[in-house]
Amino acid sequence: MEFVKLSIQENVAVVTIDRPKSLNALNNQVYEEIIAHLEAVEANDQIKAVILTGAGSKAFAAGADIAQMVHQNAMEGRHLARLCHRSADLLETMRQVTIAAVNGYALGGGCELTLACDIRIAAENARFALPEVGLGIIPGGGGTQRLSRIIGVGRAKELIFTCDQIDAQEAWRIGLANHVVPQEELMDYCMAMAKKIASKASYAVSIAKSAINTSQNVDLPSGCTREQDLLGLLFATHDKQEGMEAFLERRAPHFTDF
Ligand code: CAA
Repeated sequence: MEFVKLSIQENVAVVTIDRPKSLNALNNQVYEEIIAHLEAVEANDQIKAVILTGAGSKAFAAGADIAQMVHQNAMEGRHLARLCHRSADLLETMRQVTIAAVNGYALGGGCELTLACDIRIAAENARFALPEVGLGIIPGGGGTQRLSRIIGVGRAKELIFTCDQIDAQEAWRIGLANHVVPQEELMDYCMAMAKKIASKASYAVSIAKSAINTSQNVDLPSGCTREQDLLGLLFATHDKQEGMEAFLERRAPHFTDF
């Protein structure tokens, strides 16, 4: 594919947005390629975690492509929003864990892709913002919905209404970034985390992701009921038997369910 590259290291996929001349700006083709890669990754049993990042040292992605959007009408704008949402939905709901390795600007649609990832790791030069209202639009890839769920309504409104950029330390302080690391260590840090997660029972990790996601959309009793049912279900898996027997036999588990 032209603008989004996929590489696989053992059981971790690295998806790289690769349009560095325009700071990895996201046009329709970029979104379509992200979707195609994520769909292929989700279908691949060998892959247990995904790292999403941007090529070059300056940007994760500086937002939707303004040079494309300037010519688009309402119908085309809606189509773009649907592509943004399809990409974000995949990152949020795919069975593998998704980690955003934020290596510079994560603005607009770029920021929204990070919001849909399970975990955000920021390089020291990362900068986050939702600058859309400065362009006469609103965040269209889930920004008005997911940011407030992560950092709270008051802070989300301030960032969206002012378009202010925040740096990596501020992102960490308000809970937007899980960790801040030196830029040259970013990919190694994310890879180590991805491999640690991949070493666990992947089916259980995937069910935990689904249970946590559900908790954002339902009341506590409904979420807790679902959690009980899911735990019961996991008692029927090979990996549960293997993980517990390995513990009792003081050996490393060999997980195989997914
Ligand atoms: N779309 C298209 N091109 C972009 C771009 C974008 N979002 N962001 C950067 N570029 C291009 C620039 O036009 C420039 O191209 P040329 O070299 O051909 O002129 C190149 O990338 C380098 O950018 P700058 O010269 O501007 O670099 P800088 O270091 O001076 O500034 C920046 C960096 C602060 C990120 C600045 O580029 C910027 O503000 N970019 C736009 C950010 C933005 O508003 N993004 C939100 C888009 S709206 C959106 O995303 C909607 C949605 O949710 C669907």
